Amino acid sequence: MAFSLSFVYIFNIVITIIMSHFGQFHARTNLNVLSFGAKPNGVVDSAKAFSDAWSTACGVEDSVVINVPRGRYLVGGQVRFEGESCKSREIILRIDGTLIGPQDYKLLGKEENWFSFSGVHNVTVLGGSFDAKGSSLWSCKANGYNCPEGATTMRFMDSYNVRIKGVVSLNSQLFHIAINRCRNIKIEDVQIIAPADSPNTDGIHIQLSTNIEVRNASIKTGDDCISIGPGTKNLNVDGITCGPGHGISIGSLAKDIKEEGVENVTVKKAVFVRTDNGLRIKSWPRHSNGFVERVRFLGAIMVNVSYPILIDQNYCPGDSSCPSQESGIKINDVIYSGIMGTSATKVAIKMDCSERFPCTKIRMQAINLTYYGDTAKTSCTNVSGKQLGLVLPNGCF
Ligand SMILES: *[C@@H]1O[C@H](CO)[C@@H](O)[C@H](O)[C@H]1NC(C)=O
Ligand SMILES: *[C@@H]1O[C@H](CO)[C@@H](O)[C@H](O)[C@H]1NC(C)=O
Ligand SMILES: *[C@@H]1O[C@H](CO)[C@@H](O)[C@H](O)[C@H]1NC(C)=O
Ligand SMILES: *[C@@H]1O[C@H](CO)[C@@H](O)[C@H](O)[C@H]1NC(C)=O
Ligand SMILES: *[C@@H]1O[C@H](CO)[C@@H](O)[C@H](O)[C@H]1NC(C)=O
Ligand SMILES: *[C@@H]1O[C@H](CO)[C@@H](O)[C@H](O)[C@H]1NC(C)=O
Repeated sequence: MAFSLSFVYIFNIVITIIMSHFGQFHARTNLNVLSFGAKPNGVVDSAKAFSDAWSTACGVEDSVVINVPRGRYLVGGQVRFEGESCKSREIILRIDGTLIGPQDYKLLGKEENWFSFSGVHNVTVLGGSFDAKGSSLWSCKANGYNCPEGATTMRFMDSYNVRIKGVVSLNSQLFHIAINRCRNIKIEDVQIIAPADSPNTDGIHIQLSTNIEVRNASIKTGDDCISIGPGTKNLNVDGITCGPGHGISIGSLAKDIKEEGVENVTVKKAVFVRTDNGLRIKSWPRHSNGFVERVRFLGAIMVNVSYPILIDQNYCPGDSSCPSQESGIKINDVIYSGIMGTSATKVAIKMDCSERFPCTKIRMQAINLTYYGDTAKTSCTNVSGKQLGLVLPNGCF
């Protein structure tokens, strides 16, 4: 008996040592926001409970799950998740509930973010609905003056190895999800919903970040579904439904004279329904050292989209105080392949490129865009490239 017990004991130790040697054995600590004072009643502000749970999680070596059970949680101000001093190997924020913003838009509006993650690594946000209740701020903006800019619902900064999966984001005051100076980020199965007329409610904004994947997302918003800012490298977008909204945009670029380029962007299997644009690259008419290089638009369906394919190097909304220079952004090596559907305007393909730096190596193939069952048109200036096979409308090269 004693022999067999100690045998089992030693056997377990040996297994544990072997498994941790191969990195397969890790303890997992479970935390629950309710034990940090969060109240799933939609009334008591649970912001502090979230940051307290995070601090505790950070102090745990190994893996930690922060559970947010079903229910509605009022989160009345910015929650900062900071990772610089975290000891944990991995933190999973598992949300089964709905997080709701405060009724008074000024409380969130004066903050830059609602949920901000800075310097975090190996973090997963799994599930959850984030309802920022942005509409009162939008009506303030529609009526005029003295409105705060608003908070981005979820922002990741200086972070790596992050997964955002199964999240629903509703009615953000400003951007829904923003990624700044990050690497290795996966955004999957998210739903983003805001009305067509809600200002600056971009779905996903990415900049200065490398190795980003966005997969299977449904984005309905009042601004860009996905906006791809300077310094975005190795971005893969696969399986996106967009609309209402302004489409998928690389840009705006040339905001600054010194600016990082955008390279290696692939957008596969996108569906655009009644959006203002489909696949767009835009830059201000300003000198800049930025560039766009190796972009692949592969497979898109356009349903009544105002500008299905657009390169606009004279971007200046409202035409007020435009820089009026030749855009310095060099756009090179862009493929448009397998793009079908309907345009809501006669000009389905528009490329208005910089005179100083014409767009080069633009390739089009398997394109069929129509205008109310009629032929559509192209409008191209300062573009060179080639077309292969069916390209309707054609006329750019
Ligand atoms: C992040 O997770 C990976 C894979 O699970 C692991 O190898 C790595 O050590 C973790 N990084 C840190 C800083 O804990
Ligand atoms: C895509 O995401 C939705 C949630 O937005 C999910 O219900 C669906 O199962 C996902 N599809 C795939 C193929 O993963
Ligand atoms: C972009 O892709 C090219 C060609 O595959 C590769 O050489 C380059 O290193 C990539 N850029 C980055 C920043 O990884
Ligand atoms: C297409 O969209 C325009 C507005 O952009 C709208 O006026 C028109 O009715 C739509 N047509 C169809 C067929 O949906
Ligand atoms: C282009 O698409 C239209 C509308 O879907 C279709 O009627 C037409 O046959 C297509 N043209 C070609 C050459 O495939
Ligand atoms: C750019 O386009 C303009 C307008 O079509 C044309 O006058 C000019 O010659 C073009 N410049 C170059 C460098 O192709």
